Amino acid sequence: MGRLFDFMLPENKSPLTADSTDGLFHFINEVSLILLIGITFALIYFAFKYKRKSEDDKTPLITHNNTLEITWSVIPLLITLVIFGWGYSGWLNLKAVPDDAYEIQVTGFKWNWAVNYENGAQTLNEIHVPKGRPVKIVLQSRDVLHSFFVPDYRVKHDAVPGRYTYVWFQAEEVGESVVFCTEYCGTSHSDMLAKIIVHEPEDFETWLELNGGGPSGTPVEQGEALVVQQGCQTCHSVDGSAGLAPTFKGLFGKEEQLNDGSSLTVDENYLRESILNPGAKVVNGYENIMPPYEGILSDDEITNIIEYIKTLE
Ligand code: CUA
Repeated sequence: MGRLFDFMLPENKSPLTADSTDGLFHFINEVSLILLIGITFALIYFAFKYKRKSEDDKTPLITHNNTLEITWSVIPLLITLVIFGWGYSGWLNLKAVPDDAYEIQVTGFKWNWAVNYENGAQTLNEIHVPKGRPVKIVLQSRDVLHSFFVPDYRVKHDAVPGRYTYVWFQAEEVGESVVFCTEYCGTSHSDMLAKIIVHEPEDFETWLELNGGGPSGTPVEQGEALVVQQGCQTCHSVDGSAGLAPTFKGLFGKEEQLNDGSSLTVDENYLRESILNPGAKVVNGYENIMPPYEGILSDDEITNIIEYIKTLE
């Protein structure tokens, strides 16, 4: 149906949440364009019409004009009231989650999105959702302010430490949409991206079944799954490549120089301390940017991660 300012918007993939935003966006732009053209032409026209024509051409003294003043006050007032009413009803719609919404927990932390589903399935930076069904994303943050923004659905909300917030949408096409973090949150803020993957409802049920349940496997396998789920690889590579933090490959048993000039051999206790309280002993050449995992990982989970790191020789 193409409107003039369509080129400024990504494709609308969740009409229930996006239509009102798009309608208002177009209205504001079109009104602004009409005013811009009108004012520009009036300006040029008046510049010629009231140009000084002779030496004794005197500007008449006009103190006020009631009709004009009321007109240019009331028309903008009406326009802003329309914008307000439209925006308010759109906002109410974004706050009113449909009762049958499928709920997904999303936790922002530097610099990943951890995703938890009702049946115990977990993903990192990938949010799997069914097509044609409302989805409620319950947001929280583990460290600082993040913001969950999905341009395709026109939804955006801050993820705030110590508080739950939410957005909802209903994706109407199978495919993928990008999630951006839109609250500056440190070094890798611009890489804090996630993908929403929309499945046919049957495929979504299958995906859930395949990925549900709690952790399984050997301690090393569980440790590897945790390293993925907790986003450790955002900074720690497992193949020896450089990153914002030391690689896990060959880490266990290695001699490390610390930034206070001392050195130590990486053992279980050092790894445990570095997971719980990363700032205690920082390796030389790196910054103290890792969030503490105290209260987030259990003792068993930490042990499994250490067992996994030991296998990366
Ligand atoms: Cu998280 Cu920016």
